[in-house]
Amino acid sequence: MTTDISPRPLRLGIAGLGTVGTGLVKIVQEHAPLLASRAGRPIEIVAVSARAKAKNRGVDLSAYAWEDDPVALAGRADIDVFVELMGGSDGPARRATETAIAAGKDVVTANKALLALHGQALATAAEAAGKVIRFEAAVAGGIPVVKALTEGLAGNEISRVMGVMNGTCNYILTRMESAGLPYETVFQEASDLGYLEADPNLDVGGIDAGHKLALLAAIAFGTQVDFDAVELEGIGSITIEDIRQAADMGYKIKLLGVAQMTGRGLEQRMSPCLVPETSPLGQLQGGTNMVVLEGDAVGQIVLRGAGAGSGPTASAVMADIMDIARGYRVPTFGQPAANLRQARAARAAVAAPYYLRMQLLDKPGALAKVARVLGEAGISIDRMRQYSHEDVAAPVLIVTHKTTRTALEEALVGFEETGVMAGPPVAIRIEAV
Ligand code: NAP
Ligand code: HSE
Repeated sequence: MTTDISPRPLRLGIAGLGTVGTGLVKIVQEHAPLLASRAGRPIEIVAVSARAKAKNRGVDLSAYAWEDDPVALAGRADIDVFVELMGGSDGPARRATETAIAAGKDVVTANKALLALHGQALATAAEAAGKVIRFEAAVAGGIPVVKALTEGLAGNEISRVMGVMNGTCNYILTRMESAGLPYETVFQEASDLGYLEADPNLDVGGIDAGHKLALLAAIAFGTQVDFDAVELEGIGSITIEDIRQAADMGYKIKLLGVAQMTGRGLEQRMSPCLVPETSPLGQLQGGTNMVVLEGDAVGQIVLRGAGAGSGPTASAVMADIMDIARGYRVPTFGQPAANLRQARAARAAVAAPYYLRMQLLDKPGALAKVARVLGEAGISIDRMRQYSHEDVAAPVLIVTHKTTRTALEEALVGFEETGVMAGPPVAIRIEAV
């Protein structure tokens, strides 16, 4: 039997040999015949770069040329694709990516920070050079969500993209609930397990997930990627009481990203939200990611899987490389960069119910004052619960009917003026999923 495999290999230069880079080397080495058969040509690593040449990385790198400088690697004449797996929105990752494009290389990256901040400029430069930048691994690790949006749902008008896109935050929130532990304890556990980014605020501050949401929003709505317009709120203020009491009302708390085009502009939020505990998002445990896509023709699609880790993330990098090897070339954000519109940013324009938790001084008329503030702000109460207590403050939970953020903010100011609050109230949006 003869095989139809071109003798012309696709030649890779890989910058970054950490968690993802070594995962990619393993896939290329272990699946060489399968990859060649599927792509119709061999996939070869030509040269690699990292900081410490002598480090044992658990993979055999002896067949590849070594470059101390990733920018020099990016410009090598003997590579076709520059694979950027170092990370960082600027510095060597940005310089090397720009160099690769200028030198006529296609680029594959897992770097959401780089593309969330410089995606439009890089996409424009790549297209001008007739090259592609692909970034499947940058959003939700092993889940092929960029492909799903760019290709599988290309015939749909997308109405909403949402999801849990930071596994570390989902681990922390679900572990707090299952073990009954406070945030600080579980944060330390996550740190000891090596789950947190070098700057933990990228995870718990919602920044990492916000980068991912901004990238998906650009593809979904045909807009220029605009991370600065993402309303960000991290999980650091979520208490074990919030988690327990939300559960008591039938909800789970998730760091949820939501992007939707509204009449007032593009809404992008990455913040703690309540979702029904019976929903797929509500049932998501541990470090897993889930992305929900909604299109006019297809309805709702739910994608679930590993959002991080060596194998899953390298799997997504490899998928992009395979597209390039097959000659399948899609613009960075699914359409030419020049066609991407600059969207007007809308702040939480869509009305929603809210969960309110407060500690009320237990004296006559306290609850009535709270109800009056809500009434005056035009906010209607759906459900309310007061818990028995032994100290001077009574825990009170209120679930409102749908209201706007403006009305909610008016009520929060009004609560301060009642003189019956024993501490600042907590307000968390309830997302319809
Ligand atoms: P990592 O384990 O920290 O590895 C980073 C690699 O880059 C290391 O090999 C490091 O060299 C190399 N490097 C850093 N600065 C360099 C420089 N100036 N010159 C040459 N090499 C340099 O990071 P990672 O987890 O693999 O992540 C890589 C990228 O994938 C990031 O953009 C990250 O956001 C993204 N990503 C990661 C995951 C995940 O699960 N880890 C998931 C999705 C996306 P040394 O080894 O010599 O220090
Ligand atoms: N820090 C990210 C997470 C993994 O916890 O999901 C890299 O995207």
